[in-house]
Amino acid sequence: MRKLTILLASCLLFTFACTKQENKTDKCDQFVDQLMAKMTLEEKIGQLNQCTSRWEMTGPAPSSEYSQNLLEDIKNGKVGSMLNVNGAKATREAQKLAVENSRLGIPLLFGYDVIHGYKTMFPIPLAEASSWEPELAKLSAQVTAKETAASGVHWTFAPMMDVGRDARWGRVMEGCGEDPYLASIFSVARVNGFQDSDLSKDNTIAACAKHFAGYAFSESGRDYNTVDIGSYTLHNIILPPFKAVAKAGVASFMNSFNLINGTPSTANSYLQRELLKKEWNYKGFVVSDWASIKEISTHGAAENLKEAALLAIKAGCDMDMESHAYPKHLEELILEGKVDEQLIDDAARRILKIKYKLGLFIDPYKYSNKKREKELVYNEENKAVARTVAKRSMVLLKNKDQLLPLSKEIKSIAVIGPLAADKDIPLGSWRAKAMENSAVSLLEGIQVAVSPKTKVNYSKGCNLSIGKRGFRTELTYEENNKSEFPAAIKAAQNSEVVIMALGEDCWQTGEARSQTDIRLKGQQLELFEAIKKVNENIVVVLMNGRPIAIPELAESANAILESWFPGSEAGNAIADVLFGDYNPAGKLTISFPQNVGQCPIYYNHMNTGRPTKGGNVFWSHFTDSPNTALYPFGYGLSYTSFEYGSVSINKNNFTKKDSIEVSFSLKNTGEYDGEEVVQLYIQDPKAKYARPIKELKAFQKIKLNKGQSEQIRFQLSSSDLGYYSPDGEFLIESGAYNIYVGTNSQEVQKVNFTLIN
Ligand code: BGC
Repeated sequence: MRKLTILLASCLLFTFACTKQENKTDKCDQFVDQLMAKMTLEEKIGQLNQCTSRWEMTGPAPSSEYSQNLLEDIKNGKVGSMLNVNGAKATREAQKLAVENSRLGIPLLFGYDVIHGYKTMFPIPLAEASSWEPELAKLSAQVTAKETAASGVHWTFAPMMDVGRDARWGRVMEGCGEDPYLASIFSVARVNGFQDSDLSKDNTIAACAKHFAGYAFSESGRDYNTVDIGSYTLHNIILPPFKAVAKAGVASFMNSFNLINGTPSTANSYLQRELLKKEWNYKGFVVSDWASIKEISTHGAAENLKEAALLAIKAGCDMDMESHAYPKHLEELILEGKVDEQLIDDAARRILKIKYKLGLFIDPYKYSNKKREKELVYNEENKAVARTVAKRSMVLLKNKDQLLPLSKEIKSIAVIGPLAADKDIPLGSWRAKAMENSAVSLLEGIQVAVSPKTKVNYSKGCNLSIGKRGFRTELTYEENNKSEFPAAIKAAQNSEVVIMALGEDCWQTGEARSQTDIRLKGQQLELFEAIKKVNENIVVVLMNGRPIAIPELAESANAILESWFPGSEAGNAIADVLFGDYNPAGKLTISFPQNVGQCPIYYNHMNTGRPTKGGNVFWSHFTDSPNTALYPFGYGLSYTSFEYGSVSINKNNFTKKDSIEVSFSLKNTGEYDGEEVVQLYIQDPKAKYARPIKELKAFQKIKLNKGQSEQIRFQLSSSDLGYYSPDGEFLIESGAYNIYVGTNSQEVQKVNFTLIN
């Protein structure tokens, strides 16, 4: 206790001693400098060491050697941060070990994967991006921060901003999809939601930009696989969201598991030291991914753990998550003269500053507050926000003959499918403290929404998987048992409309959930075909965390609603859309392929030398599949319709100082009030380095009542036309440009202009 008092006293002393002119940063620097002056090398290295709790693990289990020593290490100041400790009680107890026993009483920093909610689950991030409403992502991050902070956790390993183009990769669910511009905007919104302007507030937490960098580009979409990409893709596609959040003040970065052009990201000096810390002048710290320092040697880029530690610290990785490489080897490496002690000082200083900003030196227990935890976690207010975010994240993919919205007075409705009554799958993967089976199921949502006179005929039809399911378990799909088909067919025969809930188990997506086949698993398609024979009126509600290949459903279902994994309020939010209380306005931010062979497929691709069909076979195509997506980037329908007037541009020739103004009228021509996401893309058809056929540069979500029209205006500056050379130089080139405006990346109008010097 004495140590804590001394530490608190010096922190308070600093707070009072500083003159008014001194800003917060100065105070923080001074405090950390003074603390560092008292620290031994071993204590500084301790700050760089992050260990998992033993009761919850999000990666491979550490060896027993480290498990046994953990408590003693905390008491001896050899651990600076822990992950997977959560809850006011557990965090308080763990904090007490550090604060009351270690020589200087430096508080621990608790980190946790709070990816789309702490206990109140929001839709998965990929879904949220489909809302095209960054403010919504900010809102869900704010609610999440409030719950997380009240449970003693200081730091989330989110947002994930890997631009994902490959549906085979299970982690596309955690990101924003295939566009770097959209990912930048959403990631900044999330960081602002988590952190707000002051980390020390009791409803904010530190955020973490991950995974730096290239992780989503693993060959064949197999998780942890090699990444070999050109620097052109790195600078233009992968890095922009990271640069945007660095500028927005994200507290930390996490590096990644993958090799990138032969060097593990964790050992990559160019990324972490040159670019992030030097060029971008980033002041936060970098944490490794789980055991990614150790894996440097498994990749074959270091002889052993010691060399891996050497490479990682030199490359700019400040904190070691679960490799135990820093505590084991850094001191020795310094004594041998291989590592400059200044690198340790710099890393420790960066970490301590975040602890300071969180207010942990004033009160290390401030976040571990049982009363706040009870009041703020999973309360009705948060669930109401989750419902709003969920319904606004859904994408209507098909609506033949305006089958949707359904009337609540409908006489009979069949609710069929393995996901229809499921209360667990809608919660999604990376679900932090969500309680198992706590989501409102689709069936429950429908039952509440319809009139008491409506007959709801439920039948599961088939199982999706059999046996154990969970974060750490491989799934087994049900392939044989069709015993529930007859009941489902009967339910469909006895109903006016069938709602079929199909898609993925939530444990099909997330980490280590890559697939070579992205069609519906198990017997779902067979069930669909069987139902189709007896009832034409099928509305498919999809729940999934990646694009799935559904050409059969696209062909034969009358309506398809992509609900993703909508979170705690799933069934209520889906019912809001199905029965027209909310008119869907989401648009895809990741292309849906026709088949897995098209992957990776993305709208912002380069042209080829042979893009169009000539007189023979020698053009860039598949012989057994179209090139185009089944549903392209930016696609999504509404219950109403919108008419775009012709697009005009304020001039034909612009200088670099001019503002480029694009305008057109938009009219709601349908029968419902609704919202439309209007999208603006550019193309530089001839550049020094060839540019993509289209690049999203602006969008707006416009609400129009039925019959209403509005003049829409976009303003671009010449910097919106720029791009990075393969060397990372930002270029704005004069010459001709095309602008495309429309309802999705394919249905667009074109105007052009010239940028003159
Ligand atoms: C994941 C990270 C996560 C970390 C801690 C790793 O396996 O790649 O995204 O933050 O575990 O749970």
